Amino acid sequence: MSIHYKKGADKEKVSALLYLFSEKVNLKDLKLSDSETEYVKAKIKEEKKYFTIPRAGECLAVVVAPKTLTTQSREELRKHGASFCDAVNAAKENRAKVVDKGAGKAASLEVLEGLALSNYQFLKYKNDAEKLKNSLHDLFIESADLDDDELFRFQVGIEAVYIARDLVNEPQSYLSAVQLTEEIAGLALRGGFKAEILNKAKIESLKMGGLLAVNKGSNIPPTFSILEWKPENAKNKKPIVLVGKGVVYDTGGLSLKPTANSMDYMKSDMAGAAAVIASVYAAAAMKLPVHVVALVPATDNRPGQDAYAPGDVIEMYNGMTVEVLNTDAEGRMILADALSYAAKFKPELVMDFATLTGAAAFAIGQYGIVTMGTASDKIKKDLNQSGDEVYERLAEFPFWDEYKDLLKSEIADIKNIGGPVGGAITAGKFLEHFTSYPWMHFDIAGPAFIKGKDSYRGKNGTGAGVRFILNYLKKRGGVK
Ligand code: BES
Ligand code: ZN
Ligand code: ZN
Repeated sequence: MSIHYKKGADKEKVSALLYLFSEKVNLKDLKLSDSETEYVKAKIKEEKKYFTIPRAGECLAVVVAPKTLTTQSREELRKHGASFCDAVNAAKENRAKVVDKGAGKAASLEVLEGLALSNYQFLKYKNDAEKLKNSLHDLFIESADLDDDELFRFQVGIEAVYIARDLVNEPQSYLSAVQLTEEIAGLALRGGFKAEILNKAKIESLKMGGLLAVNKGSNIPPTFSILEWKPENAKNKKPIVLVGKGVVYDTGGLSLKPTANSMDYMKSDMAGAAAVIASVYAAAAMKLPVHVVALVPATDNRPGQDAYAPGDVIEMYNGMTVEVLNTDAEGRMILADALSYAAKFKPELVMDFATLTGAAAFAIGQYGIVTMGTASDKIKKDLNQSGDEVYERLAEFPFWDEYKDLLKSEIADIKNIGGPVGGAITAGKFLEHFTSYPWMHFDIAGPAFIKGKDSYRGKNGTGAGVRFILNYLKKRGGVK
């Protein structure tokens, strides 16, 4: 989808229009008929914040934006954008315009974001894709004070979410660990960042025992990708390193998941990888003045002939030994090696993104991201704010030492599962053993893949994490 912007009022003839007012609604320049005016007045009296105006051959709607934007009201605006998207597609309109009538550019961009994100579809495997395709493909915005650079970054942000969603929605029959590296290489060319891909031989020579162990049951080799965007004008001296869980399919391995449904959506177990890949792509495409690196360990997790087994002791990349007591706790095995590897960049902050535990999804559902880690209070505060602004809210879990004790092993340095309680936290504590820098862990098992439509987040792959990461990176780079 393309987004168009011309300074000032543009004359583009578009018959799907969303008028954005602030608290004062001035109906004069909408050229409404008397009955339409009455209708709109009634809606305003009912304090409706979004409504459509029925008119044959056109798709008109009004949003009444609040004077001050809050976490909650910004989210409302995105949802109004999503509602308008539904109306535009139902009316089979190709082009839609958001007209800012005094609501301001911040409110306008929120509406536009909800609208643009809502129009996403994944039709690659549909023979009747042409028929199913949304009618809307051109978006216009008319606002007094938008600047071109800001709108460009906005558009790249939308594109990044689409990229992450596509990657998550691709089944493992297409998206193997090797194919994932092809996608990364393609994005590196398109976005202008550097990508180094380590193959199995290289991973073996580095002795990444965690990644190799998980891969043992697979017919397809593991991969380890290093993505880097390093602009000369970077605001940070030491890079921000992102790590993404790239389990392209999780059967549980020999600790097989029960087949009834629990495996159905495990193609989404690389959503963490998708989020960090899309974010580096966007940081590069936007030319953000931040040095950022992403590490993506990738494999599928299968109960093949040679699969790693409960009871095995694995020597990890950093030399620690791990007793595997459940092969379904594979994400932490591959992330551990990537986290140890991250130290070589002497990072200012490492953030890992992973669909790591059912426990995180169970605790807070799809409504936010479970987080924990060792970064400073200042960093945590900035991260929280970044999350609130884009409504990818963070729920910080306790990270007490007692949880670490639950990982004690009889035979190795640690075991890969904890006890019956605090499953999301013991997973985080496991990872902490492999970190030696300020670090935050983000468990996106809840929001990464959803079965029912949730406004502009859509359904299936949501691109969870991308808007949050980008918002944080933009702030770090001092750009809006
Ligand atoms: N990929 C799963 C976690 C998951 C579950 C993500 C549901 C999305 C939806 C992960 O690899 C896993 O299987 N975790 C286990 C850990 C357990 C064996 C300690 C879990 O959460 O049950
Ligand atoms: Zn698993
Ligand atoms: Zn998994």
